[in-house]
Amino acid sequence: MAANRDQWNSQLGFLFAAVGSAVGLGNIWRFSYMAYEHGGGAFLIPYVVALLTCGIPLLVLEFGLGHERTGSAPLAFAKISRKAEFFGWWPVTFVMFGIVLYYCVIIAWCLNYCIYSLSFAWGSDPNAFFFKEFLKLPKTPMEIGGVNTKILLSTAVIWFLNWLIVFRGIGKGIETANKIFMPLLFFLTLFLVFWAMTLDGSIDGIIAYLKPDFKKISSIGVWIDAYSQIFFSLSLGFGIMIAYASYLPKKADISRNAIWTAVMDSLFAIVAGLGVFAVLGFMAHAKGLPIAKVVTESIGLAFVAYPKALSIMPGGRFFGIVFFISLVVAGISSSISILEAFTSAIIDKFNMNRKFVVTTACILGFLGSIIFTTNAGLFWLDIVDHFITHYGLVVVGIAECIIGAWIFDVSRLRKHINRISSIKMPRIWDDIIRFFVPGILIIIVIGDLFTEIQAPYGNYPWFSIVVIGINWMVLSVIAGYAFTRFHWHYEYMLYAPEEEEE
Ligand code: ALA
Repeated sequence: MAANRDQWNSQLGFLFAAVGSAVGLGNIWRFSYMAYEHGGGAFLIPYVVALLTCGIPLLVLEFGLGHERTGSAPLAFAKISRKAEFFGWWPVTFVMFGIVLYYCVIIAWCLNYCIYSLSFAWGSDPNAFFFKEFLKLPKTPMEIGGVNTKILLSTAVIWFLNWLIVFRGIGKGIETANKIFMPLLFFLTLFLVFWAMTLDGSIDGIIAYLKPDFKKISSIGVWIDAYSQIFFSLSLGFGIMIAYASYLPKKADISRNAIWTAVMDSLFAIVAGLGVFAVLGFMAHAKGLPIAKVVTESIGLAFVAYPKALSIMPGGRFFGIVFFISLVVAGISSSISILEAFTSAIIDKFNMNRKFVVTTACILGFLGSIIFTTNAGLFWLDIVDHFITHYGLVVVGIAECIIGAWIFDVSRLRKHINRISSIKMPRIWDDIIRFFVPGILIIIVIGDLFTEIQAPYGNYPWFSIVVIGINWMVLSVIAGYAFTRFHWHYEYMLYAPEEEEE
């Protein structure tokens, strides 16, 4: 069985896939706003510190565990201790029946907006168009209303594309797709950034984005945000990177690939930010407003601020199409990695046929996405996302450090990594994984819990928070636990590999 494990065709293919997973919607619409809010260029200090002390060490840990134990997250952990298996199932369950369900719906919105860019369908009021006409957003999360047919159809297209890629397996499917997606995404992004920089006022936007304000980084909240951003952006705690590394051949450069993945992900975010702020600078200039009045993040940036700018930009239709296509490409290269994290776990445990697993997962995924295509979909995704990313991912990160460092042996893992990697992990990495990363993540969780009990997240009614957010988390724990109760198809797979000679 293990001998038949799918494999990447090349290490470059693996790197493309890992970067594809990391570079997602967050890099394009979240990073730049966060930097702007948190001290501009000065934000690079907490960001780089977070990258060096948490992002890269944890990515090396995930790659190392997946490779050394040769398994998806549940298998890798079960090979360390049967009791640890849950912390492999829980993430792959909440990413498959949580994150990817709404992630695909957001990609679907981008697909719709790609077409809307052709005719500036948002008219003179993109804000009203997006919230009232397109989403039909009600006042509260419980007014679910009907399904939005246009969004449902484009969501079906996105799930179909996910299916088409992951169905074909690691080398032929995921690797081939990323070998097309990544160069395409980098090319389109550079094209947009250069174009945006030629617009009047763009330089003011870029100055607002990068002007350092060192006072801001003395706030603890800025540091917590930097760590959280790195965590989500590098797809840590999803079970993805463990699964991806399990498909590497015996000899693979673990640490170099981890460093490259992290560097590419950060560079992409920083460069994409130049384009985002160049466009915002242009809009502020055209409307005679200060930058602060036009700046916004995530959904508001892509679906409200950008459409406003496109309508007045020379060549705005074309710019809009390219921008939304880049979001679709960045999104799909991440969503397929989530689907694979779950798929590989099921294949490992039950020895089922990949085509059957992927088809079933995509059908269930599409059905699960439906709730996010309803009128209240935006509220639902906001609440579910908040709980999964703030608690699920971070708790899994803590568990990974404990399992990898304390239950397993982090020095043994480092020896394994150093034996095959060109860049050697220093001894201090052991202590970073043992103490520092879990310590930081515990502080983040406690900080979040503290904010949580002071007021309901997003000022939603407590009822919605419990029914949607907390319920979702509880169900994912139950489902994750249920998976651990089944027998492994091949019990012998759980025997740990022999310790290799140094
Ligand atoms: N890492 C992916 C993103 O940033 C999930 O969107």
